[in-house]
Amino acid sequence: RERAMHDISVVATDLKTLHQTRVDWLGKKGPLTEVLRGMKDLTPEERPAIGALANEVRDALTQAITDRQSALEAEALTKQLAQETIDVTLPGKPVHQGQPHVLQQIIESLEDQFMGMGYQIVEGPEVEQDQYNFEMMNLPKDHPARDMQDTFYITPDILMRTQTSPVQARTLETHDFNAGPLKMISPGRVYRRDTDDATHSHQFHQVEGLVIDKHITMGDLKGTLLAVAHQLFGADHEIRLRPSYFPFTEPSVEVDVSWGAVTADTKPEDIEWIEVLGAGMVHPNVLRMAGVDPDVYGGFAFGLGPDRFAMLKYGVEDIRNFYLNDVRFLTQFDQKG
Ligand code: PHE
Repeated sequence: RERAMHDISVVATDLKTLHQTRVDWLGKKGPLTEVLRGMKDLTPEERPAIGALANEVRDALTQAITDRQSALEAEALTKQLAQETIDVTLPGKPVHQGQPHVLQQIIESLEDQFMGMGYQIVEGPEVEQDQYNFEMMNLPKDHPARDMQDTFYITPDILMRTQTSPVQARTLETHDFNAGPLKMISPGRVYRRDTDDATHSHQFHQVEGLVIDKHITMGDLKGTLLAVAHQLFGADHEIRLRPSYFPFTEPSVEVDVSWGAVTADTKPEDIEWIEVLGAGMVHPNVLRMAGVDPDVYGGFAFGLGPDRFAMLKYGVEDIRNFYLNDVRFLTQFDQKG
């Protein structure tokens, strides 16, 4: 009994050894079982005393083992808890947070600016009807200017839109001019059958602008575009309008923005101009085809390319960077700095 007690409280320092101790002392082949088995060889006078003693020893050992087990379990738990303690004073690992794509940032800043000027934001389908992309933009089927925009056709009548201008026709058709003038911008993706290189992408972005009311002038167009240039490049930049051609505007202009800042002392010949967008006064045919009377209403439209703006603003030399999704490129435009 004493040896058993010694095994339990001194030798069994972990749960596994304790289990072995239980088997050794109380198991089928253990000494106690043997004693109980040997009872039948005892005289009837000896039996009660030996039996009582054997039972007492068994109960005592069982109790001792149970106590020891609880103690060992508690000890193990304490040890595990100590090991798993978290040091809350350790500095955390930084988690990388994403941010809007640089093109999205430009589009959103334009949206903010135009909403501030009372424009609505309209979206149109990227899979578009020839009817809206070309016909209603004053480009009939045999018009040579269709070649200016190499097109992905899906069927002879359905295509990937080559410009956001079809949203002009869609909005003109549904706008209720009795409720007020039409002022909208329409950002989105456009597609052209170009071979991708540093300055061409078969898919890029445009932001279309359209203002139609009763007395809109080219001065309104220039003032609006100057505000855009100031927003995107800074208030010390100038713009310049050059005559151009688009089938859906007359007159049409190409708009340049000054590369550097322009002050009162800057000599005109020192300004470097960069072409950034196309614009003009909406062609009467476009209004007429959309059911708007060109003798009453008129206005301006423009189409600018966020890709081109971003390239100029940040000195990105290859347009394909915007579409490769390389985080090393994209994280450079983290607004949180
Ligand atoms: N849609 C023209 C383009 O893609 C741009 C433009 C829009 C020009 C509106 C004039 C007016 O080149």
